[in-house]
Amino acid sequence: MSSLTRRQFHHLAIGIAAGATLPKVTRSETTPILRACEGTARLAPSKYPETKIWGYNGIVPGPVLRARQGERIERVFLNDLPQASSVHWHGIRIENAMDGVVGMTQSAVPPGAEFLYDFALRDAGTYWYHPHNRTHEQMARGLYGALIVDERADAPVVDRDEVLLIDDWRLNDKAQIADGFGNIHDSSHAGRIGNWITVNGDGGWSREVTRLTRMRLRLVNAANARIFMIEVHGLEGWVVALDGMPLETPQSLDKLALAPAQRADLIVDVIADEGEEALIVSRERADSYAIASFTVLEAGREARLTKPDALPLNPIPALGSLKTATRAEIRMEGGAMGGMRKAMMGGQVTGIRDLAAAGKIWAFNGTVDRSDAPLVEASLGETVRIAMINDTAWPHGMHLHGHHFRRIGRDGALGPLRDTILMNRGETVEIAFVADNPGDWLLHCHMLEHSASGMMTWLRVT
Ligand code: C2O
Ligand code: CU
Repeated sequence: MSSLTRRQFHHLAIGIAAGATLPKVTRSETTPILRACEGTARLAPSKYPETKIWGYNGIVPGPVLRARQGERIERVFLNDLPQASSVHWHGIRIENAMDGVVGMTQSAVPPGAEFLYDFALRDAGTYWYHPHNRTHEQMARGLYGALIVDERADAPVVDRDEVLLIDDWRLNDKAQIADGFGNIHDSSHAGRIGNWITVNGDGGWSREVTRLTRMRLRLVNAANARIFMIEVHGLEGWVVALDGMPLETPQSLDKLALAPAQRADLIVDVIADEGEEALIVSRERADSYAIASFTVLEAGREARLTKPDALPLNPIPALGSLKTATRAEIRMEGGAMGGMRKAMMGGQVTGIRDLAAAGKIWAFNGTVDRSDAPLVEASLGETVRIAMINDTAWPHGMHLHGHHFRRIGRDGALGPLRDTILMNRGETVEIAFVADNPGDWLLHCHMLEHSASGMMTWLRVT
């Protein structure tokens, strides 16, 4: 383990830097409430004050919402924030009207108002929820939570099942959330990268386990922009699902890149010895830091369990012919060192100075923000393939709403089902999916400062 350090509290210089009408809420007395409001959380060590946050039910992360595949989730969203908001159920294949996209599938829920979310859970897996209005600010303030859908059919047996929402906060030297949300420097570079990492709102997340305990760990990257390069020490196991969707064969866990919004379900055995610590670390350049630790208390099991079976697959339609599929292309441009000179903004060709003055730094196919016309209009059941060309100097994590897609490899091999895919600088990635969910769906970068400053398009399924 080279230069494995516990996290440090850096003092960073902080950079300065609307839609349909609301349906009437017809909730019953018994509908549970999900309330977005201000709160405080002990994010930093005890020598610092508690941090003022915005949280669902006042806590960070928000409550774990958990149900079984085939059931429904019903929540009255109550907005007690000083800002309009909404809830997006990330990765859930949902009815369009419940997708929570302000200005597209619903209007913003103003302070003091409420909105009823009610939807069926077709797929099992690890999902999460967050606002879709001023997302870069609202998530940075703590608005996110896990949505766990338990398998209807038998899933591999584990001793523990832990949800780990990993976040990257930018705190000032009083441990308060730094402002400067969406400043031009963050927007044009890697996004809002923080200086303090938490798991489930805890800067030193840790559990006690016995040796050879088998755990299902559900990792969720809830950071605005940080990519975690996950490695484990004293744990050994498999990746069994990505972005909620089971892999057909569990894959030996080695290194794992977790881009913003991505999830990974791991099944791991604790192989560290009694008295040792097993660690989940993130490696950045030459340095690694622990993000979660397991203290091995006593001996536990005599022998390791055998390799787990795959999780039961979700009912995702198989891809149709890729030859006759509807095709589209996204050329991603802009950002620092990108050399973008101009782009369409609000129907006008606009020079880079005016774009930057309006906080717009990135374009898809020469247009910033959501264009009037969809990138693709597909009829229900059609197979769609989209080539995405990252003509920028930065990585991006592209997220499609309402559908899971597969990457088409150069040799034609298909990758695992995902809802968010990490693209390196200069890389071209082609994805394919069956457009089986009617409605208007966003396709955007989940590095939230990037989507707020232009990296956004949409598809229509009719
Ligand atoms: Cu996780 Cu468009 O969002
Ligand atoms: Cu991006």
